[in-house]
Amino acid sequence: MPQRTRRRFDDDDDFDIPTPTFTPTDDLDEAGPGDDHDHDDSLPKEPAWSTYPDAAHGPAPTPDWVITSAAATDEDLGVLKTGKEAEVSLLRRAHGDHAVLMAVKRYRHAHHRLFHRDAGYLEGRRVRKSREMRAMQNRTEFGREVIAGQWAIAEFHVLSRLWSAGAAVPYPVQLDGTELMMEFIGTADGVAAPRLAQLRPTPSEAADLYGQLREVLLRLAEQGYTHGDLSAYNVLVDDGRLVLIDLPQAVDMVGNPQGFQFLARDCENICAWFTARGIDADPAALRDLLLATVPHAG
Ligand SMILES: Nc1ncnc2c1ncn2[C@@H]1O[C@H](COP(=O)(O)OP(=O)(O)OP(=O)(O)O)[C@@H](O)[C@H]1O
Ligand SMILES: [Mg+2]
Repeated sequence: MPQRTRRRFDDDDDFDIPTPTFTPTDDLDEAGPGDDHDHDDSLPKEPAWSTYPDAAHGPAPTPDWVITSAAATDEDLGVLKTGKEAEVSLLRRAHGDHAVLMAVKRYRHAHHRLFHRDAGYLEGRRVRKSREMRAMQNRTEFGREVIAGQWAIAEFHVLSRLWSAGAAVPYPVQLDGTELMMEFIGTADGVAAPRLAQLRPTPSEAADLYGQLREVLLRLAEQGYTHGDLSAYNVLVDDGRLVLIDLPQAVDMVGNPQGFQFLARDCENICAWFTARGIDADPAALRDLLLATVPHAG
């Protein structure tokens, strides 16, 4: 089988924004795999060749369930959720008798985002290319695409690092421009796991979930991160197992001068949910525990 160049995304270092692979004159519609042209939602989507060979890959060791063959096919099974910043779809990748489901998060062009928000979250991340910086500031189409791609890169990077550290986050399978493909958290027949916010746990279930939440937040803190947008909507519970999602804005506590505030807010938001379910979840105690875990903080 011909070998194609593969990149891995398991570095620990600062990262720079790669030069986007499009030009400003390209069609800027976010086309799915295999349907670059003639995009029409009314037509059934045909399976296309797997995009894995041409994408950046998640960290090693690649889990056994990941289908890496260039002879595999991808089938879009439709949108799971349209969010503010991205659309999440279900995708089925198959090779021979073997098939897996994945969640595909496609970042939108950032028409809606305020620059100060980008600036706040992206502080501490290096943007070397001044042309891209100017385009982002001026909010040209090119600049918006750069920003959308940058958020996808940021989430892929954070997921890669956290997954490698053993945190309960989806395995990031691949990154291709503004499209991030990751482990699907849900049933084998494609029903996504409920968000924590949708659950009505018994006191003992709530206590167990709070324990799992503390564990995953400790893994983040060990890597220097806080979630940055933590709420009961960004936590999935798959048959009792808690999985943290939606991490593009994860805050580097060491590099970001507002890190402490983000950490405190995350703790307050999530502790409020658990406190309302009868759990003794003290936000200040959780914040201090996590802060003491951050390398070189304080
Ligand atoms: N890996 C996954 N497995 C299963 N479902 C997922 C996965 N990732 C995301 N989802 C579903 O898609 C929804 C939106 O994902 P996410 O929170 O990452 O995107 P978002 O654009 O920030 O959405 P929102 O604006 O609602 O916060 C999740 O609440 C969840 O229901
Ligand atoms: Mg979300």
